[in-house]
Amino acid sequence: MWRPSIGTLFAILVGVAATLGQNTGYQQDPNWRAPDPAAARPNPLADKPEAAAGGRKLFHRNCVECHGEDGSGLAKKHAADLQLPVVQGQTDGTLFWKITNGNTGRGMPSFSKLPELQRWQLVLYLRTLKATAAPEARPSPN
Ligand code: HEC
Repeated sequence: MWRPSIGTLFAILVGVAATLGQNTGYQQDPNWRAPDPAAARPNPLADKPEAAAGGRKLFHRNCVECHGEDGSGLAKKHAADLQLPVVQGQTDGTLFWKITNGNTGRGMPSFSKLPELQRWQLVLYLRTLKATAAPEARPSPN
């Protein structure tokens, strides 16, 4: 009879988690930084939370293939978990800049082809991912 060791069971678990998605091991690229003026730009839609609904549609059309329905990031795409505090803790301007420019060397495409307001709509929607994430289901930040 096959009696797997604890190590084998652990490896299987990690493998399953990776296949299901959710990029729990996401590490931010320290060299991918928005210049200060870009980081300081406010979201022109900040007082229009209803625009997040359009952002949701855009997210489904352009982003879920890598970031997943809930934005937690597919491990096999090395995509960022967009619910993480390291991501959410950045300014709207930084998120806008990252969506605009991408980090193509690490698999994040540039979305400069989308109209500017649509990119700001996406930023609005990203903020709702934080709000809907159940805190108890997330690993505590160190
Ligand atoms: C082809 C796969 C792919 C698609 C499509 C994609 N992303 Fe990404 N995204 C990535 C990867 C991979 C990273 C992590 C890049 C890195 O390691 O630096 C990332 C990172 C990000 C980050 C930065 C996270 C951080 O650490 O600050 C944001 C924001 C983001 N994506 C938003 C989006 C949005 C919004 C869309 C849709 C418009 C999108 N992405 C579409 C793969 C993708």
